[in-house]
Amino acid sequence: MATQTDYSIFEMIRIMKETYKKDLTVYDDAFLVKALERRMTGINVGKLDYPLYLQENRHEADCLMASFQITYSQFFRNPLTFAVLEQCVLPHLLSQKPENGEIRVWSAGCSTGQEAYSIGILLDEMIKSSSKPMRFRIFATDLAQDALGAAKTGIYDENSVANIRMKYLKSHFIKQGEAYTVAPGLKQKIDFSEYDLLDSHSSNPPDSIFGDFDIIFCCNLLFYYCIDVRRAIVKKLKRSLAEGGYLVTGETESTFVGKDEDLKMLSSGAPIFQINR
Ligand SMILES: C[S@@+](CC[C@H](N)C(=O)[O-])C[C@H]1O[C@@H](n2cnc3c(N)ncnc32)[C@H](O)[C@@H]1O
Repeated sequence: MATQTDYSIFEMIRIMKETYKKDLTVYDDAFLVKALERRMTGINVGKLDYPLYLQENRHEADCLMASFQITYSQFFRNPLTFAVLEQCVLPHLLSQKPENGEIRVWSAGCSTGQEAYSIGILLDEMIKSSSKPMRFRIFATDLAQDALGAAKTGIYDENSVANIRMKYLKSHFIKQGEAYTVAPGLKQKIDFSEYDLLDSHSSNPPDSIFGDFDIIFCCNLLFYYCIDVRRAIVKKLKRSLAEGGYLVTGETESTFVGKDEDLKMLSSGAPIFQINR
């Protein structure tokens, strides 16, 4: 039998769909319940009153939608992932590419840009120290416009850059007072653009023209969504991977992807998968 809590949640889902054309059923149940509870506690409205409040208050509906967008990010966020990329994946990719070839990366759900800049730093360093001339291009996308704005600006405070090795901080950032700005040379190699991974009309960011990515990052966003949506996102990312390309997820998200028969985990511990179609 449905509890009162279930009933209130169904009611909120219905109101968001009918009044505001927003589909909350795409989200993971536990994630959705937590977000709704956080919102109700934040504005001090009980769960029995909240549906009517939501119905009559468009601003609240906007705030609720915004509360689903968690944009926390970090440079070199999962150290083990970046170590495996640096020591195994990138050297292998470089050795496979022809002279003057291009390594293509997509940071899907890039938030404020740290993930894209982190892989950009590693690629830049590796290509500089290689005798083979090579280029790289990073496409970084998100649906949160504020986060994308910050990513494009590329200015971070001292705490945010704490995970970056000193030599990379010196070579890829310009320090101005307390702030660190990404150097133009690195910025030029990254295109930030708006793209919703749930968009069913395109399979990769339009700016990238075609997919064929050597590495796709999709970290710390799959857990937002229900199983069907996670599957649809992974299917889309698989289509955009080049033959033998790599999909990188968040630490806790590898179990969602691990069941896919076309994706093989490289080594246990690091959530990096290679496609084998
Ligand atoms: C927690 S952040 C993770 C940022 C970065 N990938 C990392 O791991 O540090 C999740 C990001 O995914 C974005 N996101 C969530 N759903 C998305 C979707 N359907 N399409 C594009 N971006 C999405 C959010 O806006 C947010 O910026």
